[in-house]
Amino acid sequence: MSEQYAVFGNPITQSKSPAIHQHFAQQTQQDIHYSKQLVPADGFALAAAEFFKAGGKGLNITMPFKLDALEFADTLTERARLAGAVNTLAQQQDGSILGDTTDGLGLVADISINLSWPIAAKSVLVLGAGGAVRGVLEPLLQELPNKLVLANRTAAKAELLAQQFSHLGQISGGGFDDLAGQQFDLVINGTAASLAGDLPPLPAGLLSPQACCYDMAYGNEPTVFMRWASEQGAVDCADGLGMLVGQAAESFTLWRGIKPDTQMVIDLLRQSL
Ligand code: ATR
Repeated sequence: MSEQYAVFGNPITQSKSPAIHQHFAQQTQQDIHYSKQLVPADGFALAAAEFFKAGGKGLNITMPFKLDALEFADTLTERARLAGAVNTLAQQQDGSILGDTTDGLGLVADISINLSWPIAAKSVLVLGAGGAVRGVLEPLLQELPNKLVLANRTAAKAELLAQQFSHLGQISGGGFDDLAGQQFDLVINGTAASLAGDLPPLPAGLLSPQACCYDMAYGNEPTVFMRWASEQGAVDCADGLGMLVGQAAESFTLWRGIKPDTQMVIDLLRQSL
């Protein structure tokens, strides 16, 4: 029988994870079944325990359960502990459940491999200081940017987050006002503003002549942030569809020990948006 995997979330109908993992499984000839499950807001631990008891091998976790998954896991990877969130649960040989986070790996793989944008020695700006940003800081800092600046509507949250990651590299935090007069080679939007069609209040002149801009949100047309980036002269910009496929690929690798190709799946999903 196929080994069972699923994504848990609420809401869940919009999830592209089953389609993505189906493509990965075909590509790598893995015999898996991957479903999506709507979990009641207060029912994560029960649903996850039942899933694994019934023989399930691994779960992806989406909104709003990434903190519940962190608590549910028996052991955590170091990056999940730092991110303070879990998006992947994997049953280990001894039956225990490992919690990992693959969002940051997915982002860095999309930027550095699929898009071929350099991060090392570049000045990087990340907009936002919520859970989505927290989850990508360690993998970004591991790429050794020249500096990483966090800017957030609530400046104090960016300052605190920067402090918490300061042992991993050159990172500072503040408000959008603090950005005036600075230039960056890579700007990553991790605010929830794009989802509401909003744009953070960014000063003009923020982009260096070789700057690239990445929106962690995605859609069937360029996001407001991507349109802003083009107007400001960005050399290239991209949305977060590649990050979505990239984080799924890292989960798949953790579960199955085989790394699928992401570009083909990104192209297929893009056509279906
Ligand atoms: P997530 O876990 O998806 O990151 P979150 O923790 O609610 O969600 O964080 C949302 C982020 O988007 C925060 O950085 C938030 O800024 P505040 O910390 O000041 O709330 C940011 N955000 C949401 N709407 C925004 C908007 N319209 N303009 C700028 N920033 C926005």
